[in-house]
Formats: sequence, C-alpha cells, structure tokens
Amino acid sequence: MTSILGIIGYPIGHSISAAFQQAGLDACGIDATYSAWEVPPSQIPVFIRDLRRPDVLGINVTVPHKEAVIPHLDEVDDWATEAGAVNTIVHRQGRLTGHNTDGYGFLRALREARGFSPQGRRALVLGAGGSARAVVLALVRDGVGRLAIANRTPERAKALAKLSERRGVTSLAISLTGPEIAAEAGLADLIVNCTSLGMFHGPGEESTPLSSQQIPAAALVYDLVYNPAETPLLREAARSGARTLGGLYMLVYQGAAAFEMWTGQPAPVDVMLQSAEKAMAARRAS
Ligand SMILES: NC(=O)c1ccc[n+]([C@@H]2O[C@H](COP(=O)([O-])OP(=O)(O)OC[C@H]3O[C@@H](n4cnc5c(N)ncnc54)[C@H](OP(=O)(O)O)[C@@H]3O)[C@@H](O)[C@H]2O)c1
Repeated sequence: MTSILGIIGYPIGHSISAAFQQAGLDACGIDATYSAWEVPPSQIPVFIRDLRRPDVLGINVTVPHKEAVIPHLDEVDDWATEAGAVNTIVHRQGRLTGHNTDGYGFLRALREARGFSPQGRRALVLGAGGSARAVVLALVRDGVGRLAIANRTPERAKALAKLSERRGVTSLAISLTGPEIAAEAGLADLIVNCTSLGMFHGPGEESTPLSSQQIPAAALVYDLVYNPAETPLLREAARSGARTLGGLYMLVYQGAAAFEMWTGQPAPVDVMLQSAEKAMAARRAS
C-alpha cells in the first residue's frame, strides 16, 4: 500500500515542501507520495478527521492553519504547546499527534550548517511573529546567554521578551527602527531575521533591517527568509565580513524532523537540500 503524506495551507502554491520531501522519500526507497493540498479554513475539521485512514502517515501544516488544527488532534507535544502552533501531524493507529519542528529545524541548521552553539551567547532576534516565537523558545532551550528582541510593533517584542525572561534569560525588547538597535547589533554573536523584510514579493522586498555598518564582522547572521537565497540583510552581512546562513536550511531541517517522525528513518538531508535548492531555482527562472 502506497502511504500518503502532504502539506496543507491556504494558499499553498508557494510551498516547495512537496519537491524536497518526495526527493527524500524516493532516495530512501519509501513507497509514499507527498502532495500539496490547498484547504480552505472551513474544511479543516473534515480534512483532519480523514487523516485517520490507515494509509496516511501524517502531514505538514502551514499558514494559516497552524493554530486551527490543534483542537482536532488527540495530543500535542511540548514544542507545539509552547509555540501555540502545529506544523507537523503524525498519524499512528487512529491517533493524531501535533508537533512543531520549526525550533528544532532552526537549531539543527545553526549547528550542522554553521557549527554554532547558542549556549551562553548574545542573540538579537528581529521580529516578534510566529517564527520569532519558535526561534526565541529554541534559543532559550539551548541556553542562550542574553536576548534582545526588536520589532516594528514594540508591544509584541515586549510580550516575547517577557516569555523568555520567565524562562530565566535576560531579555530586552526594543524597536526595530529605534536608536538602541545599533548598540544591540554591535554586541550580538548571533543576529536572526524573523521579519518578512527582504522576502520576494513581500511588503519590504528591497529592505534590510540592518546595514553593513551595524553588523559586527564576528557575528553570524541568519535570515529565515529563503526566497531570495541572498536577501538584502545577508548581502549587508557579507559586506561587513560576517558569516551568513539563509532560511532554506531551516526549512529543510524542520521538514527532515517531520520525515523522521513519519517514516522512522534518518532523513537524507543532503538530497532534500539539493532538491529544495533546485525547486527554488526553478521558481526564480519561471
Ligand atoms: N525558513 C523557514 O523555515 C521559515 C519558517 C517560518 C517563517 N519563515 C519566514 O520568516 C518570515 C516571518 O514569518 P512569520 O511566520 O514569523 O510571520 P508573522 O507571524 O506574520 O510575523 C511577521 C513579522 O515581520 C514583521 N514585519 C512584517 N512586515 C514588516 C515591515 N514592513 N517592516 C518591519 N517589520 C515587518 C512583523 O512585525 P509586526 O509585529 O510589527 O507586524 C512581524 O514581526 C517570513 O518571511 C517567512 O517566510 C521561514
């Protein structure tokens, strides 16, 4: 029996998960198909109920369904509970468990692609939306020394800083455009962009939250945006001599964690990464 996997979102046309997940399944000789389904919010209850079919291994969940699926699941793990969002559902014998692999994917990319450990280091997180929450919680779990969170809407940065303070990490909330950002960037070992600035076809496609003069050469600059591969922020970082990491690694590593839960096999990360890069190149060319 061919097993069923896939991703739901609304819309779903932007997703490249089907390309790299199917490449991973094929490379491992697993008899499964991974599809992309556009599911309107009104159809979520029925869609999730039907995942209990014996041939379904699970699904990924993307915007705008990450919170809406939760009441329809039998269980939700600690990462997803903390994040308040589910990006992976695993089906086993009629039971559906919700997971959130974004934080794990973020940390694994940091470690494996750049050999960076957040333990005791200073981090500046730009943004305070859903991905920033996953990143902040992951950094806190991994023992980050000190956090500064900068956001356009300062109230959201304050709420996130409070969350990490409650978990014992000294945290400062600042404005993305205020005068403190230069000083915080200057002190950071790690700078992570979790805003949508620089995203292809986004509202600030050509914008960067920091200039090369504000980025220390010793820092690692990690942009969660993966389209384009070289964002305006990563260009500024390279100009300052800093090391850089693009968001495609996190995308693939969060998918690899889901792959491992569904199949019980190690994910062929290199194959998945190559196929993700190919899918992005094809998007850009079309
Ligand atoms: N690589 C990966 O695996 C991965 C995973 C998740 C997300 N991402 C990427 O990360 C980015 C953010 O995703 P998200 O899910 O966190 O989105 P979100 O929850 O909507 O949050 C968006 C963030 O961007 C800020 N922002 C939006 N437009 C802005 C502008 N014009 N100027 C300044 N700040 C602006 C928002 O600030 P306000 O609070 O002021 O609105 C907020 O902090 C997206 O580009 C997404 O593709 C990548």
